[in-house]
Amino acid sequence: MMVYESTHPLVKHKLTLMRRKNTEPKKFRELIREVTLLLCYEATADLATQEITVETPMGTAIGQELAEKIGLIPILRAGLGMVNGIWEMMPGAEVWHIGLYRDERTLKPVSYYNKLPTNPTVQVCLVLDPMLATGGSAIATIDILKKWGAERIKFLGLLAAPEGIEALQTAHPDVPIYIAQIDDHLNDIGFIVPGLGDAGDRQFGTA
Ligand code: PRP
Repeated sequence: MMVYESTHPLVKHKLTLMRRKNTEPKKFRELIREVTLLLCYEATADLATQEITVETPMGTAIGQELAEKIGLIPILRAGLGMVNGIWEMMPGAEVWHIGLYRDERTLKPVSYYNKLPTNPTVQVCLVLDPMLATGGSAIATIDILKKWGAERIKFLGLLAAPEGIEALQTAHPDVPIYIAQIDDHLNDIGFIVPGLGDAGDRQFGTA
């Protein structure tokens, strides 16, 4: 399936500012919102629309509106920072949080929060997590969404290790991956190199 790495100059510029170790949390939060908004523009280019008629001051125009219900699925904690940029563009999107943390020893995701209703309420799910490292968190989240009955799922992230891309594609070949930049490798404690450190800690000031 598709892996889309952004080539947009604004995305590259802002992502570079996020990587800098002296970028403080306030600025980091601003940047994560902005980069996500730009990435959202690219990741939503194929959303379905339906024709509607509206009255303009000058007459009748045939326009379009989004035809599908969109769900944003931020993976806690770091995915939270990606919600607002997208929400500004699609204020009608539903937000369903999934809580996962990585066990520091095994690097396997551990689930701690999931309040999805019994039946799916949206047609397109955008899974949000700035970091795709081993891919374990994204895979587990998409497993949950598929069991829930989600029809179409896309993954949106900022930085990925090639190892994470490979694992996610293998586990969920039907899920397109939209990423701001693919980095060099994963280190032995599961961090993306050169990366930007821990995206959760950098947003929330908990480093
Ligand atoms: C980080 C990151 C991703 C995950 C990526 O979260 O935000 O969710 O690790 O790693 P993976 O691809 O190897 O699963 P972390 O577990 O540190 O939790 P946090 O966001 O709450 O800090």
